[in-house]
Amino acid sequence: MLRESFDYVDYLEMKRSVDDDSLNKEVWDAMATWMNSQQKNRASLRILEIGAGIGTMIERLLDHELLCLCEYTAVELESGFRDVAMQRLRHWAHDHACDFQQINSSTWLLSGKQSKITVHWIQGDALQIANQTLPDSFDLIIGHAVIDLLPVPACMPNLLARLTREGACYFSLNYAGETLFLPAVPGDIQIFEAYNNDMDKRFPTLDWQPSQTGNMLGPWLEKQGHCVLAEGASNWELQAKPALTTNLFIANILDTIETALATLPGLTEWLTIRRQQLQDSQLTFRASNRDCFSLITKD
Ligand SMILES: C[S@@+](CC[C@H](N)C(=O)[O-])C[C@H]1O[C@@H](n2cnc3c(N)ncnc32)[C@H](O)[C@@H]1O
Repeated sequence: MLRESFDYVDYLEMKRSVDDDSLNKEVWDAMATWMNSQQKNRASLRILEIGAGIGTMIERLLDHELLCLCEYTAVELESGFRDVAMQRLRHWAHDHACDFQQINSSTWLLSGKQSKITVHWIQGDALQIANQTLPDSFDLIIGHAVIDLLPVPACMPNLLARLTREGACYFSLNYAGETLFLPAVPGDIQIFEAYNNDMDKRFPTLDWQPSQTGNMLGPWLEKQGHCVLAEGASNWELQAKPALTTNLFIANILDTIETALATLPGLTEWLTIRRQQLQDSQLTFRASNRDCFSLITKD
């Protein structure tokens, strides 16, 4: 369950363009090349997206004309996000001379001149859904800005087992352990460390550090029999400026730190300084993330 103090739908809307600027192009292109070749060879590409939020990855793939004939299953925990995603896709279809049909509340069909995309929206826990799905159900699994929230060694083998023999994974915006605000102020080191430690407390019994997901995921996938075709940085770097979106986005990150570290000594003073710098457009925010695209290599 989300525990943020700000409007999460607004945050995900803003995050769409921040992520567009940050995504690793080489990794994206590797996925795009693979998707194009797959869609030439088969009737329909079956995609599973976990933690789909408000559907911005579907829009991104549509914008890049990467979805032609496709069955897209989007799984998202939050119940309110389905209708937001549906409205967004309806608008996308309208703006792109595409037909949008609501087959039922959770199944939507987008048809263009050369495309037919069925979106199946499932509200629920992706980890449970994996148990209810047959092996070989999907050609591609996508996880964008969500893998670092998951107990990877515990849940991922089961998810990967849903892939076909030649299946692929695109996992993007995986946090890689560095959060930085500039200029430096007292308390930074303790707060950034505590922030990572808070993430790493999530799965105490697992040999996995969520705060290092971006760094650990590629080697871990290789051990599962995947070949990592492309891997690289998708860092966020935002400069505070009197543009509402950027500042609101950074404000949300500060709120996230406040919620996560509520009882940490010195946090209130640190946040006061950072919020003032934000208001004065004197703040830079950086976070390290990594993307990867992998293919199954096992027999
Ligand atoms: C940081 S948001 C990213 C959302 C979306 N991928 C995007 O980038 O706009 C993470 C999302 O994953 C969802 N989520 C987290 N754990 C999940 C799970 N086990 N199953 C399904 N969704 C999950 C959250 O509800 C949230 O919407």
